[in-house]
Amino acid sequence: MSKKILNQNDIINTEIINSYDLDCVFDNNPINRVKNEPLTLNKAEELIKLKERVQNIENCELKNHGSKIVFADGNNDSPIMIVGEGPGQKEDELGKPFVGDAGVLLNKMLKAININRENVYITNVVNFRPPNNRKPESSEIIKYSNFLRDHISIIDPKILVLMGSTAMESLLGSKIKISKERGIWKEVIIKNKTYLTMITFHPAYLLRQADQKKYSWEDLKKIKKKIDELGISF
Ligand code: URA
Repeated sequence: MSKKILNQNDIINTEIINSYDLDCVFDNNPINRVKNEPLTLNKAEELIKLKERVQNIENCELKNHGSKIVFADGNNDSPIMIVGEGPGQKEDELGKPFVGDAGVLLNKMLKAININRENVYITNVVNFRPPNNRKPESSEIIKYSNFLRDHISIIDPKILVLMGSTAMESLLGSKIKISKERGIWKEVIIKNKTYLTMITFHPAYLLRQADQKKYSWEDLKKIKKKIDELGISF
């Protein structure tokens, strides 16, 4: 009687096996019952998948209010990733982050340290415009924070810049104050990888509080210094 061989993909000497009085043979290698997807997606594919996941978020007031998703802008391969708060009216109209007044100031801030906006990657904590431009609530920040973590891990920047308290809260929690934490290099761990992170004021805040721009400038100079130290070129 021929023996039943489990895991037929393996090379097994059937003659030897058949010489034993066994009904079956066990093998240490598990039978692969799952059709494998390709193991690695490229960055652009991963971003498309993530965008679809964000687009399909459920029970979200922001999504019901915003007219379209505002996912990201800039260079996927940039060593610098900037995270803001959430889209305003202009961003909601155009589907791009930081294209209103705060965006104009952000572009100037980057220019001041010799960076063109197209050379960085920009996203927000929440990807739909909050009603009346209100600040996202903590529950909303938490709801989107896994998306943001995945986003950061896909882009895999050398330097992460968190602009404003909402971006800070999303990754570091609500117990800390931006006035204490800004301007200090931090190591933020996302999916077992450490990201060099600078927290700084949000451009919209600087538009309201021009006297705080001096602190923002200190932070920008530190970012520039780190770019030079790391030998980052654009
Ligand atoms: N403020 C933000 O935080 N993000 C934008 O995209 C625009 C303004």
